[in-house]
Amino acid sequence: MVDDTLPLLLRGYGWLPDRRRRSGGAPVETRLLGKRVIALHGPAAVRFFYDEHHIRRTDALPQPVIDTLFGRGAVHTLDSERHGVRKALFTGLLKEPARVRDLSERVARELERARAVWAARGRVVLFDEVAEVLTRAVHTWAGVPLAEDAVAPTARDMIAMVDGFASVGPCHLRARRARRHQEERLAPLVEAARQGAALEGDGSGPTVFRTVAAHRHADGALLDPRTAAVEVLNVLRPTVAITWFAVFAAHALHRHPEHREVLAGGDGPEYAWAFAQEVRRFYPFAPFVGGLAAERLEWAGRTIEPGTMVLLDLYGLDHDPDLWPEPYRFDPTRFLGSAPPVDGLVPQGGGPVDGHRCPGEDITVAVLAEVARFLARTSYDVVEQDLRIPLNRIPTAPRSGFVIGEVAAAP
Ligand code: HEM
Repeated sequence: MVDDTLPLLLRGYGWLPDRRRRSGGAPVETRLLGKRVIALHGPAAVRFFYDEHHIRRTDALPQPVIDTLFGRGAVHTLDSERHGVRKALFTGLLKEPARVRDLSERVARELERARAVWAARGRVVLFDEVAEVLTRAVHTWAGVPLAEDAVAPTARDMIAMVDGFASVGPCHLRARRARRHQEERLAPLVEAARQGAALEGDGSGPTVFRTVAAHRHADGALLDPRTAAVEVLNVLRPTVAITWFAVFAAHALHRHPEHREVLAGGDGPEYAWAFAQEVRRFYPFAPFVGGLAAERLEWAGRTIEPGTMVLLDLYGLDHDPDLWPEPYRFDPTRFLGSAPPVDGLVPQGGGPVDGHRCPGEDITVAVLAEVARFLARTSYDVVEQDLRIPLNRIPTAPRSGFVIGEVAAAP
């Protein structure tokens, strides 16, 4: 059997859809990094994959991904009761509507502040600016101290961890360095918070930071400070990573300016929710997820031996014409008035939220909707630049980072 590691590195988002086409829609069986792999596709495969009796995560992820994107001991790498106890920490903090609203309102306020600064500067790279806006907002929301002069370098670290996880060379080394910096920044803060009087909060309810610092394993022991830092980062980093979707939202508005008026108008909030869902569906971010077969499995007439790497196609499912008519047409109205199919819209994974599904979807949609409304209410020029989004790089973004100029200081 051939090894597909090089084709994956060279083709990026195109790799799995191509292999699936070549296999006539059947599960793709190949090798990655020398190990047997089977890749599954479709809503039924989503349910199959997210059944925790089928797939385990412990020892499933390549170490370079853990050492950049997720961190050692992260919730992503746990199974069974250890996963359940840790996951409850995240869902308790990230799915509560009042907290989600609080964060998206902070983002909206930071964007308003930023508009005047951008106006004074002439031209700005939207990617870099939004990363800073989100870094500021998520730190104050989560109760993690951050001095003003640390905002830009911290934003760069958060972005680097995501940008370099799937690459080799300098970008990957930058990601490793960024993770080390950030864990070394946060672990002492966890220890300090534990020694301080009140871990339970400051009157406005316990913050994300204090709640993670006080979290205990199933056996009652506190997380060691480094693991607590890893989990604080598992809130901060992906929130800043919404930058990728924010820039895609700007790209969509540039290509389809007809959405600006309705986003900025009276039906804005409802339309912005649908627009955010379509940005998540349409643009490439997470290509697939993976785990190891926990036992001998049968799928689509195939036997999957225990320990085989099983991949679940995410990007391909979000563009499957059986679920999404004209999948390469950007059309927010497909989400108006109806909840998205739970195991059909999977840009952040699928299955039930107490499994490994991303607990940050509500936050992502709420923040992205605020960004979309802000962009629609703001007057700016999109200067001449390279807006191509290369599909052979994971993660990807418009090459130029989306440069805007002539930003109006007020809506
Ligand atoms: C898990 C994508 C935003 C926190 C995941 C997974 C994906 C994903 C693909 C893995 C699902 C699996 O392993 O099966 C994204 C994308 C985001 C995003 C594309 C947009 C920027 C967020 C946000 C947060 C967050 C905003 C928190 C504030 C997490 C956590 C997990 C996770 C803690 C681990 C869940 C587990 O293993 O049980 N995300 N996510 N994510 N995400 Fe997100």
